Amino acid sequence: MTGNESESKRFAPKVAVQLDPPKDDLISQEELAKCDGTDPSRPTLVAIKGTVFDVTRNAAYGSSGQYRVFAGKDPSRALACSSLKPEDCVPDWYDLDDKEKTTLDEWFTFFSKRYNIVGKVEGAKNA
Ligand code: HEM
Repeated sequence: MTGNESESKRFAPKVAVQLDPPKDDLISQEELAKCDGTDPSRPTLVAIKGTVFDVTRNAAYGSSGQYRVFAGKDPSRALACSSLKPEDCVPDWYDLDDKEKTTLDEWFTFFSKRYNIVGKVEGAKNA
């Protein structure tokens, strides 16, 4: 196996996920907040560094799931710092240390291998 092959398999799901082409629709913070798993007519969304993922198929982000605190938000800071505190579920990651930034980038890779990208958060400062 070459180094590149093993790199592409990092954080890959055990069962292959068929993903749609990423969308770059703008999603307002207000709309994102409504997509927190409590409204069955809306998808459940989680954003990382302003990129919005549709996590509807994973009950962990649903209204009684263990990771519901992330739903309807850009919780980049919490993901970077391994926190589940609601106050850390904010997008601000710029002032974090390199190790935390790497953790966040790994979460981005993890999500991008599992969930469709459905847009960008309006007004988000991207990487
Ligand atoms: C007692 C501590 C924890 C335990 C036992 C635990 C356990 C787990 C397990 C078993 C998974 C599934 C792994 C997989 O699908 O490959 C998972 C996923 C995950 N964990 Fe934790 N976790 C803990 C703490 C945390 C914390 C503090 C965070 C905050 C960043 C976190 C964020 C996540 C996220 C975002 C996922 C991915 C869910 C997905 O989309 O599949 N976990 N955790």
